[in-house]
Amino acid sequence: MIQADSLSRSYGERWAIRDVSFQAREGEILGFLGPNGAGKTTTMRILTGFLAPTSGRATVAGYDVVERPLDAKRHLGYLPEVAPLYDDFTTREYLAFVARLKQVERRRIPDAVDRAMTLCGVTDVADRLVRNLSKGYRQRVGLAHAIVHDPPVLILDEPTSAMDPRQIVEIRNVIKGLRGGHTVILSTHILPEATAVCDRVIIINDGTIVAVDTYEQLAARLRNSEKTLVRIARAAGELAGRLGRIPGVLHVTPAGDGALVVEAALGQDVREQVARVVVEAGCGLLELRPVAMSLEDVFLKLVTHEEPPAAADGADIPARGRAPGTGTQA
Ligand SMILES: Nc1ncnc2c1ncn2[C@@H]1O[C@H](COP(=O)(O)OP(=O)(O)OP(=O)(O)O)[C@@H](O)[C@H]1O
Ligand SMILES: [Mg+2]
Repeated sequence: MIQADSLSRSYGERWAIRDVSFQAREGEILGFLGPNGAGKTTTMRILTGFLAPTSGRATVAGYDVVERPLDAKRHLGYLPEVAPLYDDFTTREYLAFVARLKQVERRRIPDAVDRAMTLCGVTDVADRLVRNLSKGYRQRVGLAHAIVHDPPVLILDEPTSAMDPRQIVEIRNVIKGLRGGHTVILSTHILPEATAVCDRVIIINDGTIVAVDTYEQLAARLRNSEKTLVRIARAAGELAGRLGRIPGVLHVTPAGDGALVVEAALGQDVREQVARVVVEAGCGLLELRPVAMSLEDVFLKLVTHEEPPAAADGADIPARGRAPGTGTQA
């Protein structure tokens, strides 16, 4: 559905992106993740035909974005980083205007506008002037703009950036609802958002793609040990030492709140021995579970080539178990 082949773009001497290649399959949600200035917006602007690549090629729904820009644009909806809206229209007028521009059949426009407004939760501001809407609502109208002609491909540049936590959850659900019927690329700084919404993530840093994979595969690829979290009812001074003497165990580190993280060599399952040692020590085993790498850890490791912070401050608790929004936000 979307194909990028060796896309590069320079501004003067500087390369904003270099040799970016990937594809988005039909019906999938692809997350574009990277620090500020990584090249996310540049790549999205090229895909949407708003910026010409210095070299390389991209197609949307089979149409080259440089050679067949109108055909490509007809198949895509774009929510730019800053949604350019016409302030003097009401929400409904504005969306009807956009639908007309996107060549939605005239008699189908009212239904198309209603559908987009319902999906994006802006029906309650249908008759308000766009200029008077709050930032989060403007962004919702921007999203309605992107989907009003029901395009098969959606390119969303930080779709939840101006929203409050409740709106974020709603818009994530809207995006999840598009899975299957639409191919979506969205950029985000919110790492848990990528795990919550996306089928695969592209991690881009300094203009270059450093990884394209599912979160699970990325975590598995970067994992270099097996970590198990053990929560106990009563501490016993000797426990960490005893756990450390289990064959295959590399480190035992406190993880706060009466918990310990037992790290073993890759491929070594020490859970049974860990359980036995804890029970024999009379510590009262409350919980025993494998610790997954969070997307944040994966990201840090790929982008900085550094080990994620030690387990002691809770950094190894999986992202799925964390409150939303604990990732880095712009
Ligand atoms: N018009 C421009 N002129 C010069 N340099 C530019 C221009 N637009 C972007 N750049 C540079 O290209 C690089 C990539 O920028 P881009 O906006 O694509 O990053 P981004 O990943 O979207 O960042 P953010 O997360 O902050 O939105 C940056 O170094 C930026 O300064
Ligand atoms: Mg950007």
